[in-house]
Amino acid sequence: MYDTSHDITDRIKKLKKDMNAVILAHSYQRAEIQDLADFVGDSLGLCIEASKTDAETIVFCGVHFMAESAKLLNPEKLVLLPEKFAGCPLANMVSPQRLRKLKDEHPDAAVITYINSTAAVKAETDICCTSSNAVKVVNSVPEGREILFVPDKNLGRWVMEKTGRDMILWQGYCPTHHLVIPEHIEEMKKKHPGALVLVHPECSKEVADTADFVGSTEQIVKYCTGSPARSFIIGTEEGILHRLKKFNPDKEFYLASEIMVCANMKLITLESVLRSMERKETVIELSPELMEKAKRPIERMLAL
Ligand code: 13P
Repeated sequence: MYDTSHDITDRIKKLKKDMNAVILAHSYQRAEIQDLADFVGDSLGLCIEASKTDAETIVFCGVHFMAESAKLLNPEKLVLLPEKFAGCPLANMVSPQRLRKLKDEHPDAAVITYINSTAAVKAETDICCTSSNAVKVVNSVPEGREILFVPDKNLGRWVMEKTGRDMILWQGYCPTHHLVIPEHIEEMKKKHPGALVLVHPECSKEVADTADFVGSTEQIVKYCTGSPARSFIIGTEEGILHRLKKFNPDKEFYLASEIMVCANMKLITLESVLRSMERKETVIELSPELMEKAKRPIERMLAL
């Protein structure tokens, strides 16, 4: 049993120095984890941060595929995920075997894989993307070449609309974003007239069509911070509200629906970060062969 959150934070900070560790946190993490972290951001920002850190240990407060991506970019470093079972249901909707089967049916296609995927699936991929750079990544594929877009069908459809490119979409989805329906947005708009609607591209087309802006978590934060508007309805995971309110204390933010909470992201607590650092668990381990293959599509994405 640990004492108070203040003591826990102090103990984590001391361990951080002793271990030469950096704490990276996704914007969907609990507020106290975001406040503790050295860097908070979206999937792309976290990848970039992981690629340039001098720390010997990376404590990744996010879900499994994010910690795995940090490991791929830092094979020699200790990468810890504070909660072993903090996974991503979307990433688990595609397996390397099923992707290989689709590739066999489309041997000339370029495979673009969302960063929300396992290392084994990345190993079957030409280039990765995040929701921040998916449009740029798709546009980097020569015109006329077939594209397989894996695994998020909503992000894929949105990118098709933005780029005018046709793509074969894997039928995966994020359960947290997929549950939001236009009626939720309508209800919130009635309650908060004049509020702008911003949603993540993992939302369905019907929801994205109600929005004033569609973008990644970081793009949503930038948009709201730069906007003269005073109130915003936010269609992405609840954790983002902490950053939005922190940067914009004079503006109002409303979650599009109370169901937008990712249970996996919320598994990580101050206690689990402390335990993870004290016991050095859960260590992200990948075979050298898998790392070699899976890091290439991430490096290609970062080089764009
Ligand atoms: P971002 O890259 O926008 O942070 O999205 C990450 C994610 O997993 C959304 O569900």
